Amino acid sequence: MCNPQIFLQTKIPKMPPCKYFAIPSILFFLLSFLIFPTKAAPIYSSHACTDSSKYQPNSTFQTNLDLLLSYLSSNATQGVHFYKTTVGSETPNAVKGLFLCRRDTLTAVCHDCVNAAAKDLTRRCPVEKEAIIWYDVCMVRYSNQNYLNNIVPAVDMSDSKSVAGADLDRFNEVLAGLLNALATKAANSEDEKFETGEVNLTSSVTLYGLVQCTPELSLFDCNMCFRSAIASVPNCCDGKQGARVLLPGCNIRYQVYPFYNSTKILATPVVKSRPSGRSRVEVILTFVIPIVAAMVLFTFGICHVMRKQAKSLKQLWRKTNYSEGVDEIDSINLRG
Ligand SMILES: *[C@@H]1O[C@H](CO)[C@@H](O)[C@H](O)[C@H]1NC(C)=O
Ligand SMILES: *[C@@H]1O[C@H](CO)[C@@H](O)[C@H](O)[C@H]1NC(C)=O
Ligand SMILES: *[C@@H]1O[C@H](CO)[C@@H](O)[C@H](O)[C@H]1NC(C)=O
Ligand SMILES: *[C@@H]1O[C@H](CO)[C@@H](O)[C@H](O)[C@H]1NC(C)=O
Repeated sequence: MCNPQIFLQTKIPKMPPCKYFAIPSILFFLLSFLIFPTKAAPIYSSHACTDSSKYQPNSTFQTNLDLLLSYLSSNATQGVHFYKTTVGSETPNAVKGLFLCRRDTLTAVCHDCVNAAAKDLTRRCPVEKEAIIWYDVCMVRYSNQNYLNNIVPAVDMSDSKSVAGADLDRFNEVLAGLLNALATKAANSEDEKFETGEVNLTSSVTLYGLVQCTPELSLFDCNMCFRSAIASVPNCCDGKQGARVLLPGCNIRYQVYPFYNSTKILATPVVKSRPSGRSRVEVILTFVIPIVAAMVLFTFGICHVMRKQAKSLKQLWRKTNYSEGVDEIDSINLRG
């Protein structure tokens, strides 16, 4: 930085020698830790440039994209954890985008994360018309497409530490139970679509789980996303003490230590205990059977609703034909 040769080359007259800069710089560096509270910097997890079509520098698309990303950052305030918007109306240059912060992040943390992620995204995917980036506690994505895929691309990150072989069976069972329960609860929630929970593995080890969908997803789409994420755990992260599966529409995470902000966070030990010996197929079934069950139940639900609608339509048709009673028609409509 303070290379005297540079001063010579650039011919700036009478520059003070470097040592005059050094002391104030060091002082400022030290003081900055006292003046500005040391907040943890947002941590990058993964990204994907998901569309092969490219935009030109200085094009309308780029202008719209820059505006979109600035809207996302500026809207990550006042406890807003999810925001989606579109810039531009005509098809080739319209760009839609959204951010999602983990529901338990404080406003300042969420804002910093979205801000950093949005900047980083344009650096990592400099010309692509569709891209997504995941940070530790937030996700930012944009697209030129109308339809946003919620399941693809999927990324997994697992801890290096493994559960002891003898304990794996029980660990997998407890883990699948926890994740499936949280997913069902979150998918069915009205707007948050976020759930955390913990379960005791042994007297000294607790397993912590977190699941979150983008709040705009329907019960069906959120469910599909969670089930897809959970189903990948035996493949990506079998026997790992912690893992994350990141999808565009949802994400899941588990650890054997508390990693989310909850009032009832407990102490952090390491996994140990019980013997076992089940096959890989059985492990996968533990994770997948609840998914199949959920899908079957859902299909029955759809059929039931459709049958009800068909019935009320029939009733409506009869009423309109035979009685013309507007009030009655309204009440039938409501029931269907
Ligand atoms: C884009 O605009 C910037 C600033 O206006 C300019 O410096 C740059 O050369 C332009 N790039 C292209 C490829 O036109
Ligand atoms: C939020 O986004 C909207 C567009 O969706 C934009 O008009 C507004 O300026 C942004 N910022 C704030 C602070 O609301
Ligand atoms: C887990 O264990 C702790 C202490 O060992 C206990 O206080 C807590 O109630 C247990 N939780 C459950 C869900 O069993
Ligand atoms: C956890 O959440 C509470 C309430 O939202 C907040 O007051 C507290 O500062 C948070 N703690 C951390 C470490 O984020």
